[in-house]
Amino acid sequence: MPVIAVIGAQWGDEGKGKIVDLLAQEAKIIVRFSGGDNAGHTVVNPYGEFKLHLVPSGIFSPQAICVIGNGVAVNPSVLIGEIDELNQRGVDTTRLFISDRAHLIMPYHILLDGLEEKLRGGKAIGTTRKGIGPTYTDKAARLGIRSGDLLDKEAFLERLHFILDYKNIILTKVYGVSPLSLDEVYSQYCQYGERLAPHIRETSMMLEEALNRDELVLLEGAQGTLLDPDFGTYPYTTSSSPLAGGSCLGSGLSPIRINRIVGVFKAYCTRVGGGPMPTELKDETGSLIREHAHEYGTTTGRPRRCGWFDAVAARFSTRINGFTGMAITRLDILDILPRLKICVGYKLDGQTIDYFPANLATVEKCQPIYEELSGWQAPTSHIRQYEQLPLEARQYVARLEELTSCPANLISVGAQREQTIRKTPIL
Ligand code: IMP
Repeated sequence: MPVIAVIGAQWGDEGKGKIVDLLAQEAKIIVRFSGGDNAGHTVVNPYGEFKLHLVPSGIFSPQAICVIGNGVAVNPSVLIGEIDELNQRGVDTTRLFISDRAHLIMPYHILLDGLEEKLRGGKAIGTTRKGIGPTYTDKAARLGIRSGDLLDKEAFLERLHFILDYKNIILTKVYGVSPLSLDEVYSQYCQYGERLAPHIRETSMMLEEALNRDELVLLEGAQGTLLDPDFGTYPYTTSSSPLAGGSCLGSGLSPIRINRIVGVFKAYCTRVGGGPMPTELKDETGSLIREHAHEYGTTTGRPRRCGWFDAVAARFSTRINGFTGMAITRLDILDILPRLKICVGYKLDGQTIDYFPANLATVEKCQPIYEELSGWQAPTSHIRQYEQLPLEARQYVARLEELTSCPANLISVGAQREQTIRKTPIL
């Protein structure tokens, strides 16, 4: 059986949770490989509606093992809260495992995220303030604490002591705030460790074993391609790689094991936080989409910036990830619009370009070139067969497929699992 990676193709919030929940019904292992609780994956299924931040969206499939991979930044308090909520609502979490290599979000990371954002003033990134950037900074600086460290209390104390001394110098001398207490952080994290111990283990071997048994493995992306620190709109990005390439690094799976890469695209674009978004609609249509689709951040509640589908960015995303197919989500949101636009190129200094520039100031200068299509102005949420979609909706989907050179595997027309059209088989 194959490995399928499900990847955010835009600026996050594309609806990956729903797609993973759907595919997970046939999977044996589902692995989150990047990000942390900055992510918010909404899943609506027979158990109810859930907003998952760390637990993989496959947790509702009773046959599946869920793994929080080494590439994820784990806030143990958030994770425990999520496990408790799932248990209270009847979802079994004994099948949830956390890589012993996954880095932990510590209280100073959350403090520093806020302090750094404040210091950036007008140039703030608009982070979720969950401590993500500082955690990955420490990983690269070799100052991180990993989940496996919680399993040896003595060694953990020694490491925390060393790191906290260093962090307290930064907190007090650079930012002028109070230091954190070693005793308090230590005892709090020891409690987390005791609670999470049954879930913490070496997890890359679990993937290998599943593949040897010929079982389906799903790699669940978080955030989106244009938030990647290398290929996104840097520095207005997140700090771990949401790309298909990142799925190997963040799970311990070899790149040659991935068979299919499904890019999840919203039928329009949204972005939350700062940074350029060439097709952003600052007008009534943008507000209409936001209100109709309730485009507010799952994690922070911030209003999302809404805009037309950007095929230039989509082609870039398809190339960087090697998408073998797309999942188009929230097509039903467009039901209400009489005319639709797709950005097919950018105007830059009087020239037409068809690539996504690396330089931030250049992206900011890009003016979208639009192609206009007729809307369908008819409900689609009840439709399950592609052929039953209104002609204009099929034309819209076909144009997205053409512009990205990628077949649409799935089309989502509502939040529920069954509100899905299976157009082209993934495998
Ligand atoms: P951070 O990941 O919290 O450091 O935030 C960095 C940028 O990524 C900000 O613009 C956030 O709004 C954005 N971001 C992080 N996670 C998500 C997500 O799950 N969906 C959408 N945007 C996100």
